[in-house]
Amino acid sequence: MQDNIILVGLMGAGKSTIGRQLARRFNLEFYDSDKTIEARTGVPIPTIFEMEGEQGFRDREEQVIAELSQLRGVVLATGGGSILREANRAALTRSGRVVYLRASAEQLYNRIHHDKNRPLMQTDNPLQTLRSLLQAREAHYLEVADLIVPTGKQKVAHIVNLIAQKL
Ligand code: S3P
Repeated sequence: MQDNIILVGLMGAGKSTIGRQLARRFNLEFYDSDKTIEARTGVPIPTIFEMEGEQGFRDREEQVIAELSQLRGVVLATGGGSILREANRAALTRSGRVVYLRASAEQLYNRIHHDKNRPLMQTDNPLQTLRSLLQAREAHYLEVADLIVPTGKQKVAHIVNLIAQKL
């Protein structure tokens, strides 16, 4: 049953980029929980946060993860906070092999600090915010992970090869 590949990790870890390439490599379909939420609501993620708050977004996310995790033959890139809810952790680990794309707060910051599409990064000190998020979430990422892959300095192709070898 476990034919899916699930990617978890913080914002900027490369879940979508790496996920798309893994899907191509294994001839699987690619899904991204954030993109599915945006397609359904017709608005970008920051607008959902503005209108419904983080909890409203998390409810939508839980619904989408429950559905996408039922699919077979897919690579699923999840939003960085999806592992916060127990229901999502259970659905994801049941659905397939979970890969944690791991990077330090500094590496993530360097990749995403220009990006305005991440509401949780709109703080006075985004690097500090990333450190706090990492600290609060790391145990959950590790709990669900079948494979932990450092994404700090490596090129995308190298990471994809590594995952393909180890899964
Ligand atoms: C979030 C990460 C985002 C998106 C939302 C909340 C988080 O996804 O789901 O902005 O809580 O870390 P990415 O990890 O794809 O950036």
